Amino acid sequence: MLVANRFRTMPAYVFAELAEARKQVERQGHRVIDLGASDPDWPPPTVAVDTLMRAAREPESHHYPPYRGWLKLREGIARWYRRRFGVELDPEREVLITHGSKEGLAHLALAVVEPGGLILYPDPGYPTYRMVGPLYGLAAKPLPLDPAVGYLPDFGRVKAGDWERAQLMYLNYPNNPTGAVASLDFWRRAVEWAQRWDVVICSDLAYVDFVWEGEAVSVLQVPEARDLAVESLTFSKSYSMQGWRLGALVGSAEILEAVYKIETQVQSGVFLAVQKAGLAALEAGPNPAALAEYRARRDWVGRQLGEMGWRVAPPQATLYYWLPLPGGWGSEEYAQRLLQVAHVAVTPGTAFGASGHHHLRLSLTRPKNELERAFAQWRSALPELLAP
Ligand SMILES: Cc1ncc(COP(=O)(O)O)c(C=O)c1O
Repeated sequence: MLVANRFRTMPAYVFAELAEARKQVERQGHRVIDLGASDPDWPPPTVAVDTLMRAAREPESHHYPPYRGWLKLREGIARWYRRRFGVELDPEREVLITHGSKEGLAHLALAVVEPGGLILYPDPGYPTYRMVGPLYGLAAKPLPLDPAVGYLPDFGRVKAGDWERAQLMYLNYPNNPTGAVASLDFWRRAVEWAQRWDVVICSDLAYVDFVWEGEAVSVLQVPEARDLAVESLTFSKSYSMQGWRLGALVGSAEILEAVYKIETQVQSGVFLAVQKAGLAALEAGPNPAALAEYRARRDWVGRQLGEMGWRVAPPQATLYYWLPLPGGWGSEEYAQRLLQVAHVAVTPGTAFGASGHHHLRLSLTRPKNELERAFAQWRSALPELLAP
């Protein structure tokens, strides 16, 4: 037996599988419009590209980068927290640079969960939270997000036995895939539960800049969170730097120290030129034109869905619509059929957990002309999408 047992039953990474399915349809000669991926189409900031080019010529860039990340970038992130949330961070101990946020999110579980401990992950939620359990041989249980209360979890419904075992709870607001936003009051409650049961909170702030109604808050605005929470940041969405692989974990120094130990054993830092470019992007801030364009797409897509008979409110935040499916359809069946007959790729809700069984996630990361084509093709395929 050459492969560990836990990998035999582990499903493939869902977005890699979806890309394969799309390629198959393309091999049949069709042009597929991809509304499945969360791959921003807006270019990265010019200042980031220019800084990268310049820094790539500097001799210091080609050495191993500092293990905890370039101090100036960590200081820049600390300044951003002060400006944005009024939160003071020690850049030396409370900010750690990672290769994109996914890697930091995963290593965090390794750093804080003992064998026999439990990970709580939001359902629906970004797939990595769910898969770190099987990946590291740790137990994981869903924390259902309740649509009736704005897709927040009801902590009171988690069994006492599960709280007793829980050591890490992932939460993500603004939320992928539902578009929900959480208030500071919610975070106060989350921190209270985490304190009561001695659980680490990981707040994933990937969509902090994509809020259309309300505002994004940080768990670290709750003073008691400082010892038990970390927050995950990424340059992939706000700055369209997803190919560059740059993210950060911030928060509890003790937890970050443990993640740092893991990081130093399995990777050796992010290319310095990328970190310099990241600082330039962060200081320039997200492009207002990009945000206006995503908001316009959100409104336009909402109108299209309404005309097609879909009763769904536009998302409060993020780059996605979370669409409940008409009666009888399972998410994978609908997504497959849509791909086959309309050549439009979407993400089946099951990619985000069991609760997504009757949902699709539609991404706004394609330009308007492609969205127009996708909806024209979708509408003409509607007769074939009436019943499973
Ligand atoms: C909620 C959430 N967190 C994290 C990530 C990972 O982003 P990256 O690894 O590119 O930083 C994504 C990507 O789609 C996401 O949706």
